[in-house]
Parts: sequence; C-alpha cells; structure tokens
Amino acid sequence: MALVALASAKGSPGVTTAGLVLGALWPRQVLLAECDPSGSDVAIRMTAPGGTPLNSDRGLVSLAAASRKGLGDDVIHSHSQQLDGGLDVLLGVRAPEQVGGMGGLWHPLGITFNQMQQTDVLADCGRIGATSPQLPIIQSARLIVMVCSATGSSVAHLRERLAALVHHVDAQLGVIVVADPKRRDGVKQVWSVLDAMSVPVRHRWHLAYDPVGAAFFDGRGHGRLEKTQLIRSATDITAEMAALVATPHDFDMAQAAFPTA
Ligand SMILES: Nc1ncnc2c1ncn2[C@@H]1O[C@H](COP(=O)(O)OP(=O)(O)OP(=O)(O)O)[C@@H](O)[C@H]1O
Ligand SMILES: [Mg+2]
Repeated sequence: MALVALASAKGSPGVTTAGLVLGALWPRQVLLAECDPSGSDVAIRMTAPGGTPLNSDRGLVSLAAASRKGLGDDVIHSHSQQLDGGLDVLLGVRAPEQVGGMGGLWHPLGITFNQMQQTDVLADCGRIGATSPQLPIIQSARLIVMVCSATGSSVAHLRERLAALVHHVDAQLGVIVVADPKRRDGVKQVWSVLDAMSVPVRHRWHLAYDPVGAAFFDGRGHGRLEKTQLIRSATDITAEMAALVATPHDFDMAQAAFPTA
C-alpha cells in the first residue's frame, strides 16, 4: 500500500500531532512510524490500551537490529505496538544518539513501508534538512506532506525546504498549514507564497490550531475529542489524503454501484 511522509522545515508546527490525528482517522489499516531522529514523542505522550505505558524498547531500534536478517511486513509488525484507541505505532528512537548505527536501515525501510501488503504507513519524519538521515524515507514516499504554521518564518523556511526537496523526490507534494480556523486570510497568504514558487504543491490543507483537541495527543485530553475543531478539520483532510494514495487493491468490489442483473 502507500507511504505518506510528514515533515517540517523548522520549528514544531505540529507534525507529530498531525500524524496521530490522521492515523486515528485513517480509513484503512495504517501504521504510524516515528522516523524523527530527534527522539520519540509518542512514547512519552501516549499510552497503550488500558492506560499502561508503551514499551519503549520495542520500535525502530529493535527493528534495526532485527532487520539484519531481513526486512518485511512481519518484522515491522512485530516491532510495532498499539496505542490506547487502537492506532498501531512503530516508536522512534529514544535519543538522537541511537540513530548513529542505523545508517543502512532508512533506505530499505522506506521501500518496505511503501510496499506493505495490508497497511498504509504514515511516517513522522520530524524536521528535515539537506543532511537528515531519514531523507530516504521521504524519498520512498508516495506523498510528502510538509507541515507548517501560518507565520512568516515558518512559511519562509518551508519555501526554502520545498525548493531544495523538489530536486530529490518524485512524490506528490502537499502542505498542511496548522492555523486558527478563523485565520483563513493567513492560510491564503501561505497559498499565495506557494503559488509564487515553481514547485508544484498540488495538495493544500488547513488543519485547525486547537489546543483543546491537541491536548488529547499530548496525554492531557478532557471532554469529547470528536467534537473538537482539530478532529472536525482533520476528518476531511484524512479522507482526501487516504483517497490520494489509495491503490487499486483498495477497491472493494462488494461496494461497486452495479445495476442489478
Ligand atoms: N493543531 C494543533 N493545535 C494546537 N496545538 C497543537 C497542534 N498541533 C500541535 N500542537 C501543540 O504544539 C506542540 C508541538 O506539537 P508537535 O509535537 O505535534 O509538533 P512537531 O512539529 O512534531 O514538533 P517536533 O519537530 O519538535 O517534533 C505540542 O505541545 C502540541 O500539543
Ligand atoms: Mg514531532
């Protein structure tokens, strides 16, 4: 199925939160893979079913060791675990130091993620720059989604990153702007910056800046998540994104609108 890479150019615009939200709403089986070399946030913020702690020894590092004997869907699944709520996650490194020995993993991992049999993969690649070790994950993705906020500096860094990235990837490009739902003018300004570039950013989404909703993905949620602006804005985004990367295998003949014989 498909690999969708999520990343940022600078700052912390909400890549991890977006990954958790999109993963929670994804209409097919999906794995959220934390490929941010600066260290896992999911292991710290989220819990396993029943509120128990996640197993931080099981994830990208244990997968890297096991992958010396080969890398396939079963190996990836066996180093993944479930979050409270049911989303499958491959936890990232605990600290950047652990990335040192993983040099050879990123490239085959990206290819495997993009070709898993039953599972789409959302990869949280964190901040990316010219020398980021996780770039091969981005390069294997079917869709690359850059996350930014609607501030001048976030957009300026996004523009620089996209201009550099476009020479190294074939994937479709998308941008999620995390902004107050009322700040449509600010989001429009981001789109006009992108329009002025020669880089084709075909897919553009506005995800609500919503501290109440985001708190659920930071281990501090209260109230009804499904009513939050974050979830309301993410629902359409997720459906569109999942449709963009759907392969013909996803088509279910039982749902075809055939006239009766
Ligand atoms: N849509 C949102 N609305 C409100 N707050 C948000 C939203 N997304 C993220 N946040 C908050 O912003 C902070 C950073 O979010 P997050 O960790 O998702 O960003 P990031 O881009 O993954 O950062 P980093 O690059 O450091 O990993 C967190 O406190 C999170 O709760
Ligand atoms: Mg993050």
